[in-house]
Amino acid sequence: MDFENNKVQIKLLLEQPLFKAATVVADRLGCQAFIIGGFVRDIILNRPSQDIDIVVVGSGILYAEELAAELNIRGDVKVYKNFGTAHFRYHDSVVELVGARKESYRSNSRNPIVENGTIADDQNRRDFTINALAVRLNNPERGEWVDPFKGLDDLKRMIIRTPLEPDITFSDDPLRMMRAIRFAAQLGFDILPETFLSIKRNCKRIEIVSQERVVEELNKIILSEVPSRGFIMLYESGLLDLIFPLFVELKGAQYIDGKGHKDNFLHTLEVLDKLSARTDNLWLRWAALLHDIAKPATKRFESGIGWTFHGHEFKGSKMVPGIFTKLKLPLNEKMKYVQKLVQLHLRPIVLSEDVVTDSAVRRLLFEAGDDIDDLMLLCEADITSKNADKVKRYMKNFEVVRRKLKEIEEKDKIRNWQPPVSGEMIMEVFGIGPSMEVGIIKNAIREAILDGIIPNEFDNAFRLMLEEGKKLGLKKIE
Ligand code: CTP
Repeated sequence: MDFENNKVQIKLLLEQPLFKAATVVADRLGCQAFIIGGFVRDIILNRPSQDIDIVVVGSGILYAEELAAELNIRGDVKVYKNFGTAHFRYHDSVVELVGARKESYRSNSRNPIVENGTIADDQNRRDFTINALAVRLNNPERGEWVDPFKGLDDLKRMIIRTPLEPDITFSDDPLRMMRAIRFAAQLGFDILPETFLSIKRNCKRIEIVSQERVVEELNKIILSEVPSRGFIMLYESGLLDLIFPLFVELKGAQYIDGKGHKDNFLHTLEVLDKLSARTDNLWLRWAALLHDIAKPATKRFESGIGWTFHGHEFKGSKMVPGIFTKLKLPLNEKMKYVQKLVQLHLRPIVLSEDVVTDSAVRRLLFEAGDDIDDLMLLCEADITSKNADKVKRYMKNFEVVRRKLKEIEEKDKIRNWQPPVSGEMIMEVFGIGPSMEVGIIKNAIREAILDGIIPNEFDNAFRLMLEEGKKLGLKKIE
């Protein structure tokens, strides 16, 4: 990292009207003010950041109101008297203002006892040295670093380290253990060994943190560039066992008669990394994480065959709601999407192992609907064999599947399938009410279309409806 360049970055930043006004107000009120935290870190790392934190030694609320007036946006300030904070929107950013604080914690709670403090107190209470960096806004030292813990050096060395004894920082707020791993994953940094050992020692305390906060950090790890790095750190620290024990059950390989199966933990992480190189879709990444989750529960050793995991895709899909509930992930259409992908994840592979028939492709399109492209991405990532010939063969077969999918979709429009003859029409034509017969006829039409016996259009479906009705002893109302 180029420190001269950092100075230029900060100089340019301070030319912005917001920070010019911040200095005018700080000097006028005679209170010290600093830009601090993630915003400073991200400026240096050239990462986009919209959340600007300013700390003042004194009242953050008074300062916020004066600054908003200086910027002519009076009235838009949201004040939280109980917390001594205020914030307002300024163009695309949210500016948060707070008085410098000193915090002390009790052993059973994440909620600290808060008192007014100096800038040094405020920096002491922060999680990592790279987040404790501050830039002075007052003249005459405007633009100077306030960096008591050498956060700039840690940014340069790409290290996550706590400002105080790590046991104190993590015990004060155990969520920070997840944050350490999240930052390491997001930024591609390493955690200082001493800091990491402290996470190992304190991991149990994650239990006092709300599940919502834990899963927020977990999702950020999943969304990082190479998520396996974060997961390995979570595993080695002991945190993964506490927050997601089911996933840890995938770890290890069992051997019987010299025959072993693959380590499904490492395989899953490899799939997740491969997939993540092609998509930022959090829920598709979750599908990768859970695609083999039922392997431990379905594992059997069958003599003459070896290890099998029959039905793990169905069982896995059934396990998804329980996992989402426990982790406090949303129980909505995102969950259903993950369930569907877990359930279908073997289908394109099975399809490509055989002759790729039109009807098998039509059925897959029918079941996957609009998620077919995501399913194909997941399946391609699922090929982690080290045998290059095998991988080549699979990939070639997937190409055939993809081509067929395109051809059939163009021809038959199955992807968002709506029955060409509705249940209402069947009831009207035969003069019957809702009944088993309606279901039987609808089913017969759907099967005939999926098998390619009739095309996906009204006239043929109507004719088949009449034939099927006749078989059931129904008569068309004239
Ligand atoms: N902070 C902390 N301990 C926490 C959470 C936050 O010390 N458990 C401090 C850090 O100094 C952090 C700042 O509060 O930089 C702002 O927190 P937050 O907005 O959550 O994090 P950022 O560092 O801005 O990063 P991100 O926006 O990626 O979460």
